[in-house]
Amino acid sequence: ARIALRQLLDHAAEYGYGVPAFNINNMEQGLAVMEAAAACDAPVILQASKGARAYAKDIMLARMIEALSEIYPAIPICVHQDHGSDEATCMTAIRHGFTSVMMDGSLEADAKTPSSYEYNVAITERVTRIAHWLGVSVEGELGVLGSLESGTGAAEDGHGAVGALSHEQLLTDPDQAVDFVARTGVDALAIACGTSHGAYKFTRAPDGDILAMSVIQAIHLKLPNTHLVMHGSSSVPQEMQDVINRFGGRMPQTYGVPIEEIERGIRHGVRKVNIDTDCRMAMAGQFRKIAAEHPEEFDPRKFLKPAMDALRNLCRDRFERFGTAGNA
Ligand code: G3H
Ligand code: 13P
Ligand code: ZN
Repeated sequence: ARIALRQLLDHAAEYGYGVPAFNINNMEQGLAVMEAAAACDAPVILQASKGARAYAKDIMLARMIEALSEIYPAIPICVHQDHGSDEATCMTAIRHGFTSVMMDGSLEADAKTPSSYEYNVAITERVTRIAHWLGVSVEGELGVLGSLESGTGAAEDGHGAVGALSHEQLLTDPDQAVDFVARTGVDALAIACGTSHGAYKFTRAPDGDILAMSVIQAIHLKLPNTHLVMHGSSSVPQEMQDVINRFGGRMPQTYGVPIEEIERGIRHGVRKVNIDTDCRMAMAGQFRKIAAEHPEEFDPRKFLKPAMDALRNLCRDRFERFGTAGNA
């Protein structure tokens, strides 16, 4: 059955667990996430970006999620718009059965200049008011996702750089977070703590200088009842980099967010943990492996099945580590 983000995260807060939000774009990803959830009895957040909606088409995604909930009737499914950039994106998502939307007003690059902060508050409040009339939850974002190492922020697609940003702009201000939540009424708040989207988050294993988990603790102290969301939460596991590189890939050495840090976040109010890159790497590694080991192969299923298995194993691990398992 479908569930709004609010109900799901209220339960997660009551029982002290986190919920991974996996990005999906197609049937194989949807099936793999659901297989993992069913195997460990976990509720799920399936999230689609604007890019995913354009790729699969809204009607295909909507009907696919309807089918997934029929195949797995015991698993609560939250269908979430990832990084909605405007009212139209959020409203059309709701029209297609999404139970939650992210209104990301932080995409106006510099969220700390007074005008763009006011812009973020106004558009997020507007979307939240309408979404709540319709029983749909809203995630807002305060702070710009980006690298504390390079001092660059994320571009609108979440994968480029908009240019130089100060250390301050790259970390959510706890007092501003209190004001933002009070004025917008959001159900969940995405914060910036030094993570960035994509595989290249850190050039070394992160410490407190470049991954500022202390910001999460500070925000949670001021907003104990607000569900926090961590974007850019892929761990970019070494073994996945190795599989990709062993079979012809060329990914330079990189570091993601250690699972222990996410677990620490969950102890301090993080309830939704966004993961896309790890899912992509899990599948891509298997595509490369099959292509290298079986060059005679051309049946797409022979590539997709091992890729789905790898994704399912990844999802299952995160459900178990975040405490989501057993809570469906
Ligand atoms: O926020 C970024 C997510 O990884 C989604 O990426 O816009 O390429 O679908 P995408
Ligand atoms: P990753 O690129 O770390 O997987 O982050 C995904 C994300 O935040 C989607 O909103
Ligand atoms: Zn994100």
